Amino acid sequence: MAGGHVHMCKTILPAHANHHGALSAGQLLMWIDTTACLAAEKHAGFSCVTASVDDIQFEETARVGQIISINAKVNRAFTTSMEVGVKVILQDPLSNVEKLISVAFSTYVARPADATKVNLKPVELLTAEDFLEYTLAAERRKIRLHPERDFKNLIQECDEQVCSNEEDAVSTDLTHVQSIELVLPPHANHQGNTFGGQIMAWMEIVAAISASRPSRFHPTLKSIDMFKFRGPSTVGDRLVFNAIVNNTFHQSVEVGVRVEAYNCEEWAKGHARHINSAFFIFNAVKGNGELFTFPRVKSTTKDGLRRYHEAIARKRIRLARKCVLLRKEADCMPDPQDKANQENIINNNIAALTAMAAKPGWEVTRALDYIKIFTLGEDAVAIKVEMQVRISSELAFSLLSDFTLQARWNKHYLTPKIVQNVTEDDKIYSIASLSVNGNKFNDFILVSRRKPCKTGDPYIIAVRSVALTCIPPFNQNYSRSQTECAGFLIYSDGNNSLVTFYNQGTPAVMSYFASNFTGLSESVVDTASACIQFLESGAAS
Ligand code: COA
Ligand code: ADP
Repeated sequence: MAGGHVHMCKTILPAHANHHGALSAGQLLMWIDTTACLAAEKHAGFSCVTASVDDIQFEETARVGQIISINAKVNRAFTTSMEVGVKVILQDPLSNVEKLISVAFSTYVARPADATKVNLKPVELLTAEDFLEYTLAAERRKIRLHPERDFKNLIQECDEQVCSNEEDAVSTDLTHVQSIELVLPPHANHQGNTFGGQIMAWMEIVAAISASRPSRFHPTLKSIDMFKFRGPSTVGDRLVFNAIVNNTFHQSVEVGVRVEAYNCEEWAKGHARHINSAFFIFNAVKGNGELFTFPRVKSTTKDGLRRYHEAIARKRIRLARKCVLLRKEADCMPDPQDKANQENIINNNIAALTAMAAKPGWEVTRALDYIKIFTLGEDAVAIKVEMQVRISSELAFSLLSDFTLQARWNKHYLTPKIVQNVTEDDKIYSIASLSVNGNKFNDFILVSRRKPCKTGDPYIIAVRSVALTCIPPFNQNYSRSQTECAGFLIYSDGNNSLVTFYNQGTPAVMSYFASNFTGLSESVVDTASACIQFLESGAAS
């Protein structure tokens, strides 16, 4: 196997699982850290310590009898530190089905036994994928070394959102959990340093107990926020873990855990070393398989209130970082000129938008006088913008469904042109823009418009990127598949209307929106204001 590349394979046994037979997240974190550390040491030729772990999301639950396959590879060596990329796959030996559980990036620092400072050799780049990961590693490093920058920008804005005061809100005090561990030789490497993965596993246990308090269901770990190991701990240390729920978000809960270490003398004097803090996001699944909706929480302490607001800011940053850190392959694009499939493609366009709008869990991230911005859940990265407009819904529909008019208000759609009328209400446009997220793109979109079938239903304008057989999807002049599912639902409100815009896009498009969640850009608000102005002046002309 190539330098800096390690593979670990495990069958999940009852000892690795909880009482429901699901692999314990802590156990998986230990395996991830061990595999990644071995990859780092293979490249460095020295022992290494875990410096930090980027945001990790867990997509699937693994069960007893299934197989976990972990691939770890050093993506880039800097001076003394290396980024290791880890891919965790779940294999079912009975069905042969494979599923992706997680992609993680950790940083390891080479620490030779004689404490000399090393200068690591560069990683050998053999494939296009190696080269891509090498380039992205530098981008990820910028984010992980300065995480506080975005955070400070957001805190003030999130402070304006008041802490829940509802009577049935659960006090965060009830979720406090404390636990202690003595570090023994099996928890440490050959130099006596505690394994980072072991600490993460202990943290996950106390976090899960805390998360179960407001739900009374067994929590499932969905993600962990980026964190760093601030200092080492060694065999003989006592580690004290304190966890508490910081905030709840509809179907998820954030639990923070702080770890302090003491050796025997420090213990007697009460001198703690703060070695790590991390934030865990859990869901809870009810007996019928549905996700539990968490009650709101409230805190009466100054720290509790601060953490309540900081949890909101972290959630926004998580969404933003997810867009930057994860590269998701674009969907396979449908071709509406494929006659056999045309009706399905058009129906799916409408159905996908309607389904996205109906999803529970849209949460307000900005609220202005006539404009509200929402995001959807932890996993589905999508945006909704609500605009109140002083014209009839019928007129708003006719102005918005003609995409050739979009250039008047939407600076991203510079030259929308109809390239094909698939039906009277379904048209393919070519869209060119100088910049979304700073990149050039040309795309083809299918725009399907529908009037309401009955009173109370909205006007629908559904949009998605499509393939055109005449232009190959990967033609270098076209950056394609920008839009997975987008469009407008327009509701009548007397003589006025409520226009809602939705977009679930590719990472490139969503990372553009993400800068708006972190307060780094006002472009969504600017575009929505321009849209309202266009509609209201369109009514007058
Ligand atoms: N994320 C990623 N890399 C980080 C980092 C972070 N949060 N903090 C520091 N680093 C990198 C630096 O960029 C530098 O890399 P480079 O040499 O390639 O440029 C390297 O770590 C050393 O940085 P430096 O500033 O010299 O060291 P430090 O005094 O900040 O120490 C650790 C960094 C990680 C070695 C130190 O904090 C530590 O020992 N932590 C505990 C590690 C441990 O024991 N882990 C297991 C669990 S207890
Ligand atoms: P902060 O308080 O700024 O979030 P800390 O590193 O002190 O940062 O703590 C990280 C998280 O650990 C907190 O957000 C909180 O959820 C939890 N925590 C910290 N201290 C305690 C404590 N004494 N009791 C319970 N939980 C705690």
